[in-house]
Amino acid sequence: MAAILGLNAYHGDAAAALVVDGRLVAAAEEERFSRVKHVAGFPSLAAAWCLAEAGLSSPDAVAVGCLEQSVPADPRAELGFDCEWHFVEHHVAHLASAFLPSGFEDAAVLSADAFGDGVSTMLARGQGSSLEVLERVAFPHSLGVLYTAVTQWLGFPRYGDEGKVMGLAPYGTPRFTDELRRLVRPSGDLFELDLEYFTHHQHPMELAWAEGTPSVGRLFSPKLEELLGPARAPEAELTAHHEDVAASLQAVLEEHCLRLAQALWERTRLPRLCLAGGVALNAVANGRILRETPFRQVFVQPAASDSGTAVGAALQVAAARGFTMEHAYWGPQYTDEECAAALAAAGIESERLDEKELCALVAERIDAGDIVGWFQGRMEFGPRSLGDRSILADPRRHEIKDVLNARVKHREPFRPFAPSVLAERSAEWFEQDHPSPFMVLVYRTRADKRELIPGVNHVDDTGRLQTVRREMNPRYHRLIQEFERRTGVPMVLNTSFDENEPIVMTPADALETFQRTRIDLLVLGSLVVRRSGGAEEAAEAAALGGQVEAQG
Ligand SMILES: [Fe+2]
Repeated sequence: MAAILGLNAYHGDAAAALVVDGRLVAAAEEERFSRVKHVAGFPSLAAAWCLAEAGLSSPDAVAVGCLEQSVPADPRAELGFDCEWHFVEHHVAHLASAFLPSGFEDAAVLSADAFGDGVSTMLARGQGSSLEVLERVAFPHSLGVLYTAVTQWLGFPRYGDEGKVMGLAPYGTPRFTDELRRLVRPSGDLFELDLEYFTHHQHPMELAWAEGTPSVGRLFSPKLEELLGPARAPEAELTAHHEDVAASLQAVLEEHCLRLAQALWERTRLPRLCLAGGVALNAVANGRILRETPFRQVFVQPAASDSGTAVGAALQVAAARGFTMEHAYWGPQYTDEECAAALAAAGIESERLDEKELCALVAERIDAGDIVGWFQGRMEFGPRSLGDRSILADPRRHEIKDVLNARVKHREPFRPFAPSVLAERSAEWFEQDHPSPFMVLVYRTRADKRELIPGVNHVDDTGRLQTVRREMNPRYHRLIQEFERRTGVPMVLNTSFDENEPIVMTPADALETFQRTRIDLLVLGSLVVRRSGGAEEAAEAAALGGQVEAQG
């Protein structure tokens, strides 16, 4: 047996993954253990968990997803394992994370992010267990930096805020694409930035993580403010001007993603594409690549951002083929007994139901307007909740977004919520039916269905959907089927189980979030906890400014 521990260390979203005999067996982000969002540094807790999960005291090899000369501290000192150590270039780890578990014998592979090991973009051809790098874009040119810089200008300064801009863009009109095209222009098959609009080339890109969550220094120069007007302060009003800049940024990013994908197709002439890197979390751009380039199949790594390099580095060192990542459930799981113990410790009573009763009850409560905390099986790897650590609600309700934000999520009102749809029904509701198991592709909602699902149909009539196959998550599939039986709608609204912090990992995390927020019904495995009074009373209490106590 060969066990390879993969690590994303000293980058945002520190993570660990374990590959045994060429197959992924465990993967998790450090933030879920440390409860510090996007935590960088060294993933000690996640690494220890991965090994314990496989019953190992040490691995045969460790694979770190960056070059040895880029590492700010010696990771050997953190772990002290007497084993082989490998350092896999950051973007090679991204490429490997997308291609090796894709199930494709050969494919074009594209990785794009801000930077890793001095590179922002790689184009490659994957064949068997090998990757041939065809092109790379080096510092200081970067689509990730472009997007983050304008995200900062828009008043969203935090690490990982780029997704907010993707959600904001459809509210605007892309009136400033000419301006945005001054920031980034084609260069052969690739692209280059006009550095006058940026600062990252003048001083080392500041990625500070001493305080926990990483923070990035200001990336744009005063010239960007001359071009677009003064930067928005984080708490200032969002105006139509900001929406139009967001729309223009998104449009220009999509142009460049499409150019890169098209160039990669010309070079490889392969019908399959694998995507990774932070830019590959831009589900709108991914949807367009699938629609508008000759690629017929696209595999996007669920942990497309840096956490996925833990998986990629380990698979690359294992030169692993034959393993296909069909789901994202690679994290810790808890038995009903462990869930019951967490409830008992908090003095909360629960009811145990068999799966049929459970799915019937939860579907009925979602139909009635309740917000449900749904905690099952193994925690997802990557930034999306996919039915194991999810908050579920009724996609048919116009007001559900505001209710969720007021009672649990506290997100910006413009951000969309996404649907989990039965895979076998998705083509009836969305214009594309290519599988989207990881919520990283945005499709247009069919015209005759839009008004039926206002809770998950975004302002531009799209949805960032998860297609749910029975074999990959039988209980979740059954729940959605039960909801369809009651309502005729084969999907539920699915958002991550958290209150703007790392997604819950343990039953105790879930219970704390339930108690702190106004989720109506908590499901921990087979156990159900109802908040006394249900939806109406909770809403009434909210109106009165009161707190609703969790009771059995
Ligand atoms: Fe990266």
